[in-house]
Amino acid sequence: MNSIIESNRKPHAVLTPYPLQGHINAVFKLAKLLHLRGFHITFVHTEYNYKRFLKSMAMSPNNNNHLIHSIPHFCFETIPDGLPHPDDNGNNHNQDLHALLDSVRNKFLAPFRSLLAKLIELASAGAVPPVTCLVSDGTMPFTIQAAQDLGLPILLLFPSAASSFLSAMHFRTLIHKGLIPLKDESCLTNGYLETKVDWIPGMKNFRLKDLPDFIRTTDPNDPMLQFLMELTDKAHNANGVVLNTFDELEGEVVNALSSMLPAVYTIGPFPSFSYHNPEDQQLEILGSNLWKEDTVCLEWLDSKEPRSVIYVNFGSITVISPEKLSEFAWGLANSKKPFLWIIRPDLVIGGSVVLSPEFVDETRGRGLIASWCNQEQVLNHPSVGGFLTHCGWNSTTESVCAGVPMLCWPFFADQPTNCRNICNEWGIGIEINNDVKRKDLENLVNELMVGEKGKKMRQKVTELKKKAEEVTRPGGSSYMNLDKVIKEVLLKEN
Ligand code: UDX
Repeated sequence: MNSIIESNRKPHAVLTPYPLQGHINAVFKLAKLLHLRGFHITFVHTEYNYKRFLKSMAMSPNNNNHLIHSIPHFCFETIPDGLPHPDDNGNNHNQDLHALLDSVRNKFLAPFRSLLAKLIELASAGAVPPVTCLVSDGTMPFTIQAAQDLGLPILLLFPSAASSFLSAMHFRTLIHKGLIPLKDESCLTNGYLETKVDWIPGMKNFRLKDLPDFIRTTDPNDPMLQFLMELTDKAHNANGVVLNTFDELEGEVVNALSSMLPAVYTIGPFPSFSYHNPEDQQLEILGSNLWKEDTVCLEWLDSKEPRSVIYVNFGSITVISPEKLSEFAWGLANSKKPFLWIIRPDLVIGGSVVLSPEFVDETRGRGLIASWCNQEQVLNHPSVGGFLTHCGWNSTTESVCAGVPMLCWPFFADQPTNCRNICNEWGIGIEINNDVKRKDLENLVNELMVGEKGKKMRQKVTELKKKAEEVTRPGGSSYMNLDKVIKEVLLKEN
């Protein structure tokens, strides 16, 4: 991929992800794409996440730590996250999502301004090119203020589906219509969430329960609800918004967003882009995982039949009760299908992952459990035939790009919206009841892996995979939109 920037002086983009794995991965992929297009990159981690990143890179099979400092014009910087120092026994303090949100809202702007001042000093000493633009996670709205201070253009990446973003843009309308906040807790269980919300463009068959779950609150001042409204309001002050989706998947929704915001660009799905540059092959290998990747699972997959394995992973934030863990375990065991199950050390509420000796005996040789993997490599392995997922947006796009149909167990945030699209609009997945029971899971695993429905979903997701490849190739819509956003937003003279 040739750089579109010919001059000797590189433009310098400072990228700021929200400090959670799913957000970091999306912003990191955009950073790599901009680097390939000739940008000098400063990628900003929190101090805590940077330590975890270094540790996970050092523990990778080839000790990829050297990559961190060896890719020309790809630099890392840190800011504090303002949270108490975590213990070092694998617990992830970021799981206190409310404390993290409070910190992002109130404690990030000052250190970020200091970092920008440092970069300006470095630039005046000739150590780095002058900062020319900010590229921020849309859930870090304080960066808009920082960009305005310095008169720099700012581009926001919302790392969710266009449908989730559009839903959040309508939260105020939901309030005006009296649909939220919920009158009382009983609304969560009495069928109220089945209420149709069929007036959001491109989302005709949606119900309240399909919208991002921040609306499931009885508190009009709920911090998450308020934050979502604040950041959709602030999106109007950015110079552009990019989304990790593509027009063939969410065209109508994207059109609706484009009529509400000045400049919206679809530049996804990121997993289908090539991160390969003949002059700089190391960039492709550089990953962004904060957990150590288990590589044994890839060897284990090599020993399995094509499309025979159901892969189970609930992302980086989901937590489940020990009872649900047991239902999932026995559903998988009783399906008699090979499975690869990623159980993070902090997945189970209460801390300890206890799987009974009977389960271990029953699934010996057929099931493998690991604590973290390179998900994209796993999904693209020929032995994987299905994905049991929590429907995080990264996982969803990665599954589409690998052509793998899904069993959907949405947990929170934007995941119900993704689940609705996967199962009802795109026809590439089946939803599992939130109160999962082993017998149902057993049946659904079989339906997905060897049933007629599974076959149809596999065909559909294979078609979407091909479309995703087309749009991210030179001449494709997302590829061209990336060039456009660089020209119209990031390189535009103010
Ligand atoms: C969160 C939200 O839940 C998600 O809906 C939102 O869009 C982004 O932030 P998370 O729950 O972690 O993210 O899910 P997801 O979006 O799927 O991101 C997880 C990322 O971690 C994926 O890129 C996945 O490839 C990676 N991952 C996860 C691994 O590489 N290995 C693992 O074992 C698990």
